[in-house]
Amino acid sequence: MTEIAEATPANVTDALAERLFKATIDTLEIASVHVGGQLGFYRALADGGDATPGELAGRTGTAERYAREWLEQQAVAGFLTVDVDNAAANERRYRLPAAHRAVFVDEEDLSYLTPLATLAIGVLSPMEALLQAYRTGGGVPYEDYGSDLSAAIGAINRPQFFHLVAGWLASIPGVDARLRATPPALVADVGCGTAQSSIAITRAYPDVIVDAIDVDAASIETAHANVAAAGLADRVRPAVRDASEPNLGGRYDLVTIFEALHDMNQPIEALRAARASLADGGSVLIADERVAEQFTAPGDEIERFNYGWSILHCLPVGMLDKDSAGTGTVIRPSTVRAYAAEAGFGRVEVLPIEHDFWRFYRLSP
Ligand SMILES: C[S@@+](CC[C@H](N)C(=O)[O-])C[C@H]1O[C@@H](n2cnc3c(N)ncnc32)[C@H](O)[C@@H]1O
Repeated sequence: MTEIAEATPANVTDALAERLFKATIDTLEIASVHVGGQLGFYRALADGGDATPGELAGRTGTAERYAREWLEQQAVAGFLTVDVDNAAANERRYRLPAAHRAVFVDEEDLSYLTPLATLAIGVLSPMEALLQAYRTGGGVPYEDYGSDLSAAIGAINRPQFFHLVAGWLASIPGVDARLRATPPALVADVGCGTAQSSIAITRAYPDVIVDAIDVDAASIETAHANVAAAGLADRVRPAVRDASEPNLGGRYDLVTIFEALHDMNQPIEALRAARASLADGGSVLIADERVAEQFTAPGDEIERFNYGWSILHCLPVGMLDKDSAGTGTVIRPSTVRAYAAEAGFGRVEVLPIEHDFWRFYRLSP
C-alpha cells in the first residue's frame, strides 16, 4: 500500500522555509546580474572572449579581486563556464556560453533580461521613503527610483517594441489604414518613458509624426538621446508633460499608452485628456498588464510577478496626490473599463493580440 505523506504543519513549515531559502539565492543571483550588467562584465566577455579575473578587470576598469569573486560566483551559479582544472584562482579562464548571450547582452533579443535584474534591484533603492509611504499613505516620486530604473524600463521593453509594435498596429484595421494614409497621421505616445515605442512606431510607418510625452524629465532626456541616435529627431518629438493636464498638445489620430496607465496618479483625467485630443476617427490604444480578470489567491506567476512590482514601485509612484487613483500594477480589465467609462469613452475593446504579459485595449469615443 502506498503511503501518502500528510501535509502536517511541520512539513508545511519546512517547505515554506525551503522556498524562502531558494528565493534568497535567486534574489542574490539577480543582484549579481545587475552588477554584471552595470559594470559591463557580460559585454566584455561577449565582445572580448573568455577572460581571467585580471583580464576582465582590465577590460572593464574594475578591481581584480572583485572581478574574481564575481566570476567565481557566476560560474557557481551556472551563468558562466570555467575550466577549473590545474589553474590557480587568478589564472582560471571564464566564458560566456553562446546560448547565454541573448539573455545577458543582446539588447534587441526578446530574451534579453539583464535590465529586468536592474529593475528588481532599482525598485528597492528608495526603501526608507517606501516604508514611510506605507505608514503615511503618501507616495514615492518616480524620480526617487533613479535614472537607472527608467533606463532599465526602456531597455526591457525595447526588444518587443522593436520586433512587435508594427505587427500589433497592423492588426488593428482602422488604425493601420490611418497610419498609412495622407496627410501624415499624428500620434501621441503617452507615458513614453525613453521613447522606444515612439521610435518603433515611426519606423513602422514612415510618414507618421509622434509626440512622445512623459512627466519624468530624466526619461525625456534619454528619449531625446535615443531619438537623435535613431536619426528620427524630425519625426519623434519628446516633451516633458503631465498627461493628466487637460490638453495633450495636438489633434491625434492615435494615442498610445504602453504600460503606463497603471502608474498614473490621475488615470481618468489622462484618459479624458486623450479623448479630448483625438482627431475624427481617432482612438486610444492601451497596453497594460495581462493579469487575471479577478483577484484569486494563491495566484499564478503573472499575478505574483505583477504584485511584486506593485508593492515596491507602481502603487507608490501612483499615490503622490491626495486624490490619487492608487491603481498599482495589477490593473484588471474591469478597472480599465471603469476608467474609460468615467473618461467618457463609449467603447472599449480587448484586442485579439497575443502577448504573455500585456493585454491590449482599444478605446473609442
Ligand atoms: C512603466 S513606465 C513605461 C514607459 C514606456 N511606455 C515603456 O513601455 O517603456 C511608465 C511611464 O509612465 C510615465 N507616467 C506616469 N504618470 C504620467 C503622467 N501623468 N503623464 C505622463 N507620463 C506619466 C512615467 O514617468 C513612466 O515613464
